[in-house]
Amino acid sequence: MTFDPLLFGEIDPPQRLLMGPGPVNAHPRVLRAMAADLLGQFDPEMTGYMNQVMALYRPVFGTQNHWTMLIDGTARAAIEASLVSLVAPGERVLVINFGRFGLLLTEILGRIGAVVETVDAPWGEVVPMEAIAAAIARTAPRVVAAVHGDTSTTMAQPLDGLGELCRAAGALSYVDATATLGGMAVETDRWGVDIVTGGLQKCLGGPSGSAPITISDAAAEHIFTRRHVERGIRRDDIADGAGQRIGSNYFDLAMIMDYWSDKRLNHHTEATSMLYAARECARVALGEGLDARFARHAAAGRAMTAGLRAMGLTVFGGDAHRMTNVTGVHIPGGVDGERVRTAMREHFEIEIGSAFGPLQGRIWRIGAMGYNAMKHKVLITLGALEACLMREGFALPPGAAVNAALEGWDA
Ligand SMILES: Cc1ncc(COP(=O)(O)O)c(C=O)c1O
Repeated sequence: MTFDPLLFGEIDPPQRLLMGPGPVNAHPRVLRAMAADLLGQFDPEMTGYMNQVMALYRPVFGTQNHWTMLIDGTARAAIEASLVSLVAPGERVLVINFGRFGLLLTEILGRIGAVVETVDAPWGEVVPMEAIAAAIARTAPRVVAAVHGDTSTTMAQPLDGLGELCRAAGALSYVDATATLGGMAVETDRWGVDIVTGGLQKCLGGPSGSAPITISDAAAEHIFTRRHVERGIRRDDIADGAGQRIGSNYFDLAMIMDYWSDKRLNHHTEATSMLYAARECARVALGEGLDARFARHAAAGRAMTAGLRAMGLTVFGGDAHRMTNVTGVHIPGGVDGERVRTAMREHFEIEIGSAFGPLQGRIWRIGAMGYNAMKHKVLITLGALEACLMREGFALPPGAAVNAALEGWDA
């Protein structure tokens, strides 16, 4: 039998509305930017775009940090680059853990060979700042690592004051803001934290595959003490540091910073189309205005929770620390959660999220972020969920969800 290369056809995915915890539908301007022609990595136009990306992401991260750039890979790539570059084997790290992505930090740190300590909250809660202060005093960590919005629980950890606590204890700090960047206020300089990372596929409304990062001068100085330029690209103007070599080549932030500097060290080949996407994501966000964007995500979150409650459903976790862009909701007794998700997809072309770990099979996670944090998309999702729940035999007041969401949007 011969293989017919045309058998699979052109890529032509269905027009799904992605209302889960991310990825979400990309903004059309971002998709158009990705279709632009490619450039050589040291073409002056390309390095000019790299410098523009550095400038565009400073306000997005709420920072003046010079070292503000992209890591090629999904959000996890920037998490791993940060941790492997900050932390040497045997060093003590405190993780603020309240969900799956706090556990991911412990997992990555464990592979690095760090001594991992945690300060924990049950899923659905956040860790009080007093508990963090006590844990720092107890463990004397070299680095403190936290998640801002943990999509597994839909909770957002308050981070005001974290940097001050860390600096007083002589620790550097890291924050995973993958799920909040561009949708909730990420205030790197006001929090006083050293490294913050993100991803495009959530509130920034792009595809996954590029991870914005910002690095304080203090963290950069520490990382440059571990600089070890790979043998084939050594240069007289870039000296190695005396510290322990970073345990990854691809995620070596010292070499990546040298690549994004005027030195243009030939580390990886920057992912050109993803850089175009990241650049356009930031332009869309800053063009809208960050405060307007946060307000739009807050309106979508309010409308979603109001609609779900009006249907008679129970929203997961406390209201005080809820992320605005993704909402957890209990699957009602007697309803098959996966059958509802399948019906949403098959009848309405809408994707909502399932859950992980202790919440698997217990909650759905419904997102409204980036290009999808729009009134009509929230209303359509609630209307579709209402229809699917009624088909499952769940008794609810017809029409109440959409009305409550309309009021919630403007509240
Ligand atoms: C809080 C958080 N951190 C990290 C990640 C990992 O992102 P990626 O899948 O892009 O590597 C996610 C993805 O859902 C996330 O929600």
